Amino acid sequence: MDRQGRIIRPNSDLGSGRVKQYILSKGRKLTQITTFCPAVIGPGPTHIYLIEDRLLTMVDTGIPTGLAKQAFYYWRNQRIPPKVRDLSDQHSELELATGLKAAGYSLKDVELLLISHGHLDHFSMSRVVLEKSRARVMAHLLDTDEICNPWNMAKEWIMSRPKFLAMGVPLPSAQSSSAWGMSDFSLKVDQPIFEEGWLPMDGYQSKFIFVRHTPGHSPGGISLLVGEEDDREKILLGGDVLLHPITPHPDDLATYLNTLEGLERLKDVALVLPGHGSNIRDLKRRVAFLKRYHRHRLYLTYQACRRPRSVWEIATMPYYFDIPVNPCEFNPLAATEAMVHIRLLRQARGLHLSHTEKGVSYFQSSGEKFDQVYERAREIIGQRAPSFIDPLR
Ligand SMILES: [Fe+2]
Ligand SMILES: [Fe+2]
Repeated sequence: MDRQGRIIRPNSDLGSGRVKQYILSKGRKLTQITTFCPAVIGPGPTHIYLIEDRLLTMVDTGIPTGLAKQAFYYWRNQRIPPKVRDLSDQHSELELATGLKAAGYSLKDVELLLISHGHLDHFSMSRVVLEKSRARVMAHLLDTDEICNPWNMAKEWIMSRPKFLAMGVPLPSAQSSSAWGMSDFSLKVDQPIFEEGWLPMDGYQSKFIFVRHTPGHSPGGISLLVGEEDDREKILLGGDVLLHPITPHPDDLATYLNTLEGLERLKDVALVLPGHGSNIRDLKRRVAFLKRYHRHRLYLTYQACRRPRSVWEIATMPYYFDIPVNPCEFNPLAATEAMVHIRLLRQARGLHLSHTEKGVSYFQSSGEKFDQVYERAREIIGQRAPSFIDPLR
């Protein structure tokens, strides 16, 4: 396998639009098409993959540019850079169609659409594909609420408001937040995935795409091992579970770290192709980095709570994130990132709820050595079976 791949079309100055192709065993092609999604305020351009199997399989579809502008800038009251504001709302759709054409396909050729996980930046452009093709849609059962329910964004917003208030996060105005309920990008999942194994395809089983359940970034996250069983150089499509240079955001840290340990044991992975950012050439090295990174963030969190702290006080501490978080601006990802570290420390009995004040919760550390607390956290991580039902949740 050629790990470098061949660039068919370069990126624009927005960092998207690129088409890159990899040749796998028996000359089968795997194509990566990069489509617009904002960086810094968002995860950066989304990679879409096309795999030549018995059915032409597309993995993820990206986010429409109009929705990306709304979700990352307008609904959060963030300043939008002029070059993003001036983009056509159909820019990502055009990049996908142009990218497919450059690789020798068109939207109508797609026969199977596989969603790596139920986040907007991965599935919300699917209707563009489904309007032109007769593709069947597959996704893991545990993310079907996010993908299929037209009211999911509104539901998530309503449910998250009290949580953010308890974290001490400043919320955007009610007027802008009501917009979250007004967009419907849902789609029907024709066939949910609920077990690991070779991908089922219309009464036939792929011998080229193997599905791994990799929860922790989202409950129904999947990764795909691409290559025949005896290939010594396989490609892993990691969704948002393995990213570089940004670090994936865990929705449940213990489950995420357990997933990383499972991925670390995979054999014959020559290359990881992620949902955003750069390719990962050394899987074990990236996993080792991510484990160290979260251990350090647990340590910072634990040390900061020597006196009672709210989630938002932790998230806005200097050096907690590479990019300083403005304590006065709504930033849901920064808050939930701090929250998942607090949650694992609480599960390991290293932190406890000290008190609440004006509806905001404050946490305090146990006063033990951090290594003792971390040892208990490691036990919890080890108990997280990568299965559907997490008994500790
Ligand atoms: Fe994601
Ligand atoms: Fe993503």
